[in-house]
Amino acid sequence: MSILSGKNILLGISAGIAAYKTASLVREFIKAGANVQVVMTPASKDFVTPLTLSTLSKNPVYSSFYNEDDDNAEWNNHVELGLWADLVLIAPATANTLSKMANGLCDNLLLATYLSAKCPVYFAPAMDLDMYKHPTTLETFKKLKTFGNTIIPAATGELASGLVGEGRLAEPEDIVTFIEQDILNQLPLKNKHVLITAGPTYEAIDPVRFIGNHSSGKMGFEIARAAANLGAKVTLISGPTQQKLAHKSVEIVPVISAQEMYDAVHAHFKDCDIAILSAAVADYKPKDVATQKIKKKTSTLSIDLIKTKDILASLGAIKTSQFLVGFALETQNELENAKGKLKKKNLDLIVLNSLQDKGAGFKTETNKVTFIAKDTTVTAFDLKLKSEVAVDLINEIIKKIDA
Ligand code: CTP
Repeated sequence: MSILSGKNILLGISAGIAAYKTASLVREFIKAGANVQVVMTPASKDFVTPLTLSTLSKNPVYSSFYNEDDDNAEWNNHVELGLWADLVLIAPATANTLSKMANGLCDNLLLATYLSAKCPVYFAPAMDLDMYKHPTTLETFKKLKTFGNTIIPAATGELASGLVGEGRLAEPEDIVTFIEQDILNQLPLKNKHVLITAGPTYEAIDPVRFIGNHSSGKMGFEIARAAANLGAKVTLISGPTQQKLAHKSVEIVPVISAQEMYDAVHAHFKDCDIAILSAAVADYKPKDVATQKIKKKTSTLSIDLIKTKDILASLGAIKTSQFLVGFALETQNELENAKGKLKKKNLDLIVLNSLQDKGAGFKTETNKVTFIAKDTTVTAFDLKLKSEVAVDLINEIIKKIDA
């Protein structure tokens, strides 16, 4: 899935011959799963038609503040357009439009929208080679970069003038790849390896029976998704679950028992930067596992249980630079118990779930959590979807790591 999926992209088209390429550009963005709106300078309509772009973007195309031919025309609100956008791309960006952008001129809807946008702005210049190298143009690029705008450099090749050199609009696929890569490079968890445990564990009694619990694995899978969406490489060690997650940055390691989870976690812990243990690991397992199915010969049956290894505590004991996060599911003295676990297991942060909160805990789509950090800060949240809790948790970890 592209990082552009679900993003709102505002494409600003200025009047260069390369404007004809914007039809392909819009298609590429739509293919990547983005929402696209187009604003054109009036002169650019000579090079590509609004009808083509509105058909491809599935949205109206704007080129003036209102439609002069329509007596009931509505105001095309540049501020709304600017604020709607997650990113603005000006392509092709002519010397004229770029110079106006650099100097705050605002004599058309595209420029007014640019000035209203608060999001990242990319510009892909297209002009003849001498214009591209002109000191004024270079000065304009420099100025726009100091405003935080990003240039997508022009390509070299045959130009509309017949000359050959630098100044061609970058190819639509290259523009899309450039923006995707630029966003990926800025993700806060880029180059971070996050280890996550999820789901229940099953402790065998005999070849057909086990001790388990009702954990769905949902919380851990949502945390994995949230971390991967912010650029992390994720190793997700999961007990038996129905959850699915197809993300190119997430490797799922399926396990069944607490011992298998322990082994898998320890195989990856040394190389990770952040470990989040959200699995509902069985605290006890049968002392002996029957090799054959146990027959119902007696009226009562006792099974001796022994403790499983506490995976979280074992990591707390060996951790070096890793940021270690545990969960605490409590039914009484919640805050006190969670703080105790944080200290005892040498954690950096603990996520407290109270079973007293309606909608929290196992098998639900929602959770109500409190984060308690090593620095004693306590942050309580309202009842939220587990996907939202996961994003809150990852953001909290990023805040703590950057602090
Ligand atoms: N945990 C673990 N290995 C275990 C048991 C628990 O890694 N064998 C982890 C869980 O993934 C969770 C945290 O420990 O992050 C807390 O689990 P919880 O069951 O609330 O606490 P326990 O420490 O097991 O204590 P108790 O059951 O007595 O409350």
